[in-house]
Order: sequence, then structure tokens, then C-alpha cells
Amino acid sequence: MDRILVTGGAGFIGSNFVHHVVAHTDAHVTVLDKLTYASTEESLAGLPEDRVTLVVGDIAEPEVVEPLVAGVDAVVHYAAESHNDNSLEDPGPFIRTNVVGTFTLLEAARKHDKRFHHVSTDEVYGDLELDDPKRFTEDTPYNPSSPYSASKAGSDHLVRAWVRSFGVRATISNCSNNYGPWQHIEKFIPRQITEVIDGRRPRLYGDGLNVRDWIHTEDHSSAVLAILERGQIGETYLIGADGEKNNLEVVQAILRHFGRSEDEIEFVRDRAGHDRRYAIESGKLRNQLGWQPQYADFDAGLQATIDWYAANEAWWRPHKDAVEASYAAKGQ
Ligand code: NAD
Ligand code: TYD
Repeated sequence: MDRILVTGGAGFIGSNFVHHVVAHTDAHVTVLDKLTYASTEESLAGLPEDRVTLVVGDIAEPEVVEPLVAGVDAVVHYAAESHNDNSLEDPGPFIRTNVVGTFTLLEAARKHDKRFHHVSTDEVYGDLELDDPKRFTEDTPYNPSSPYSASKAGSDHLVRAWVRSFGVRATISNCSNNYGPWQHIEKFIPRQITEVIDGRRPRLYGDGLNVRDWIHTEDHSSAVLAILERGQIGETYLIGADGEKNNLEVVQAILRHFGRSEDEIEFVRDRAGHDRRYAIESGKLRNQLGWQPQYADFDAGLQATIDWYAANEAWWRPHKDAVEASYAAKGQ
């Protein structure tokens, strides 16, 4: 694959993937990104100009999408509205970007017969009980809880239908919660790190015992590249790194890093429909494609992420007051 279109390549995970492709392949990358509030254009700074081109545009507009898809060998689709809390406040943009945007890209991939990889989330499977020995597999039934996860589930179903009905050469991956540099400070880990840096109290929704299965974003990128290069058309692969932690454990680790007391934790209003636990069984990806995560030690990855936010305050500081005002208005 000489030319790859990466949608959402100026976002948290998409930009990491662009760096990964530049470092590990010879492909040219075109990034299509609307540059919403969630984008981090700075994360693309310094990449070689002859390897990466940024096009600012909307994936839900066929006249923007079609010529770009026509000009590449493969599309890797990250662009999305991605925050559950926002989807509870205003679901409309989630339907437009995640459902209509994916439809628009699929139609272009069909017309021009292009390889397509769809990046999705484990949240399409709903949640697990804390004491359930099971983890999600590729056979777990879809059962999304929030407007965000329902919109991603809808997009996954569109991809499957375009494979079966129209022969589009697509694969799907469903990954667990990512952490690492350049994640927007509305999200859990960066929000708590930046609150503690500001001398404020970290906020846990509900009882703080909800479990997420954390994976470093670099491991997500290597998995997506493996699927793009070696995945079987029409198949779905779950991506996870055995990183189950409850939210309380994560916040305790952040407080410890700064030498602060656990007593500072504030328990706030729970999220509506809050999924209890996510957990991924990623044996198919590991066994069939030989993928392995490199960031097996969550605590080490978290320390590096804390250091990154401490060193890159100039990037997140301009957004901090607005993010916290929005949470405060909801009692969170
Ligand atoms: P993000 O919100 O950080 O980035 C999304 C990017 O998409 C932004 O750059 C934004 O400008 C762009 N975008 C939004 N709407 C667009 C539109 N209409 N047209 C073009 N670009 C648009 O999100 P993220 O956390 O990097 O997630 C990327 C993808 O990975 C999403 O599809 C998400 O569902 C999936 N995913 C995320 C996680 C996670 O933990 N964050 C886990 C599994 C899967
Ligand atoms: P989030 O980063 O929003 O990811 P997702 O909803 O996709 O899992 O939240 C991760 C977990 O952290 C989730 O259980 C909700 C919880 N959470 C808090 O306890 N406090 C917070 O301030 C935020 C933003 C999230």
C-alpha cells in the first residue's frame, strides 16, 4: 500500500497511527480531518511534508470524500465524535459523523474498490459484571448503552453490510480504552492528571469501581497496521492488552505519583447508563496475525503519560477552564 487515507488523523489515536505509519512503512498518508474541538493538529507537527498531507474537511460530505478515496490504495477510518458524556448532552453530531460519515466513506470505497479498515470500540458490546469471568470476544452480541456506542455499533453494521452486499474489502477492529499523549483533557485519565496538577481534587463517577481495559495508543496503532497489512477481508479483530483497572485504582496511581493523599478523591454524580466493566479477549489477533502489545506495564505507561501532560501544559492549558466549566454545570 503506497497511499493511505487516514480519517480523524489529527485526533488522539489517529495522529498516533499517522506517526506509526511514517515510522514503520514507506506509505504516503493523507489525513482527512474536520479539526473539531477534539483535534490536536500539533500532534502532526514535524512529520515529513513529503510523507503526510493534511486535508481539512468533513467525512460526511461526499464531494470532499470521494476524490480523496479515489486517490489512495486504502482508507483507515478513525474520525468520530468520541466522548460518551458529550453524546448524552447532544447526540446529533454522533449520528452525523459516526453513522452518516461512515456511510459516506463506504460508498466512496465501494465506488472506487478500495481497501477499508474501520476503527471501532469494545463499547459496542455493552458491559460486563465486575465478577463475570467472561471477556468480550468477536462473537459477543452487540448491546450498546450510550448514543456514542450505539452510533459506533451502527457504523460497524454498515461496514459488515457493505462487505456482504457490495464486496467492499473491509476489516473492523474493536479496541478497548486508549491512553497516552495527546488525549483530550475531557477524557478520564488526562482530566484527572490535569486536575491534580492544578491542585484540585480528582473526580470519580459513582462508586469509582467501574473497570476499563487500558491499552497504550501505540499498541492500538501497531494492531491496526497489522490488520491493514495481514487481516482477512470481512473479519473483525478485538484489540486489547490485558489492562483491566478500576477507575479508583487509576486515580490512586495518579495521586501517588504527585505525592498527594487518596483523601482528595471526590465522588461525583454518576454518568447516565454508565457501563460497569469492559474486558477484551484478543486471542484471535494475537494468534492469527502474530500481534503482541509492547506496553504491557500499565503503571509505567501511566507514569510516562503523567510526565507528558506535566511537560506539555501549553497544549492543554487553553482548554482547561472550558472543560471544567462544562463538567461543573453537570455536577461532575
Ligand atoms: P478524538 O475525539 O480524539 O479524535 C477524533 C478526530 O476525528 C478529531 O481529530 C476530529 O477533528 C475528527 N473528526 C470528528 N468529526 C469529523 C468529521 N465529521 N469529519 C472529519 N473528521 C472529523 O477520538 P479518538 O479517541 O482519537 O478516537 C479515534 C477513533 O478510535 C474513534 O473512531 C473511536 O471511536 C475509536 N476508539 C477510541 C477509543 C478511545 O479509548 N479513545 C477506543 C477504541 C476505539
Ligand atoms: P472516559 O475516558 O470518558 O472513557 P469511556 O467512557 O469511553 O470508557 O471514561 C473512562 C471511565 O472513567 C468511565 O468509567 C467514566 C469514568 N470517569 C470518571 O470517573 N470521572 C471523570 O471525570 C471522567 C471523565 C470519566
